[in-house]
Amino acid sequence: MKILVTGGAGYIGSHTTVELLNNNYEVVILDNFSNSRKEVLENIKKITAKDFKFYEGDMIDKKLLRKIFSENQIDAVIDFAAFKAVGESVEKPIEYYTNNVSTVLSLLSVMKEFNCKKLVFSSSATVYGNPEVIPITEECKTGNTTNPYGTSKLFVEQILKDVYTSDNDFGISILRYFNPIGAHESGLIGEVPTGIPANIMPYISKVATKELEILSVFGDDYDTKDGTGVRDYIHVVDLAIGHIKALEKLNKENKGLFIYNLGTGVGYSVFDLIKTFEKVNNVKINYKVVERRKGDIATCYSDPQKAQKELGFTAKRNLEDMCKSAWNFEKKYHDEHK
Ligand code: NAD
Ligand code: UFG
Repeated sequence: MKILVTGGAGYIGSHTTVELLNNNYEVVILDNFSNSRKEVLENIKKITAKDFKFYEGDMIDKKLLRKIFSENQIDAVIDFAAFKAVGESVEKPIEYYTNNVSTVLSLLSVMKEFNCKKLVFSSSATVYGNPEVIPITEECKTGNTTNPYGTSKLFVEQILKDVYTSDNDFGISILRYFNPIGAHESGLIGEVPTGIPANIMPYISKVATKELEILSVFGDDYDTKDGTGVRDYIHVVDLAIGHIKALEKLNKENKGLFIYNLGTGVGYSVFDLIKTFEKVNNVKINYKVVERRKGDIATCYSDPQKAQKELGFTAKRNLEDMCKSAWNFEKKYHDEHK
């Protein structure tokens, strides 16, 4: 089976490509390197000892998409290509809606032209806004997103629902990721944010390498066990495996619209994360508690039961594995790129 992976050179896309190749899928990657580097492609090949086809370009480009679909018999698409920085999306809404929504319209129209009707889409727990109930099930209300990034995911979810309503031959799986962290055990692929990281794990890793001086903990006065924010951190390799399960389900059912949370169902606080990182990696993380970050919520974790029951997916790697693998990647990357 041949899978087009858009954004396959990125953080989650590269880990998913590894799992796809390891499971004997054929892969075609489309990426414009707007947030990734060419060396990732070589590193995927090193990890898997397998090859894949690559096209450089922008997913908005229908001409390029038509070329890809005519040169390859694509059976399904996994779409990771998007911008993902929450803060930046507030500054650049037009760029975010173009890159996160218009690109999907290009993709869907070319998929239809070529009668390719299977799609796995990267959504986010951000679509739940400030959740009314914890743990969050797929039935929880979506909406009230607080930034264009989150709203772009909500829009695409609606577009996908409308496309399915218009054509029930589509098989679409919307995956709502919680907080992916960690890296492949080889240390060859991982998360490489541009500029100063906005997310916690890359920030902690850069404090550990001493590239950054001190971690700001955004608030210790939340209504949580230690006052810091609680999140459902999921190992990126588990998340990648979740995509294989979602594909298998689409192949089995052939048609339908499915929505799944991908998380562990366990919430950890910022202090849990810092302490675990320090313990398993034997490093010190300097931190100071500062004001809450605007738009943050106290607690967010998933009810992962639907994915367990319907996909047979359970995240296996624990917080220690996440912290160890993140540091293993960061050290190697830092040494090779300084
Ligand atoms: P990433 O930035 O590492 O990967 C995205 C990849 O897509 C990059 O390689 C980038 O160069 C490419 N890309 C972006 N726009 C493109 C375009 N128009 N045409 C071709 N390539 C393009 O991000 P990631 O963390 O791997 O996220 C992948 C997907 O998962 C995104 O849709 C993101 O919104 C979603 N997501 C991520 C998280 C997270 O915490 N990382 C959480 C929830 C959802
Ligand atoms: N945090 C800090 N200091 C930092 C960064 C984060 O204390 O420097 C705290 C936050 O306040 C929060 C927790 O660490 O309590 C996690 O923050 P992240 O920024 O790593 O992740 P978020 O939960 O805010 O958001 C992430 C992605 C979003 C996605 C959301 C749900 O960035 O794109 O998960 O999937 F929508």
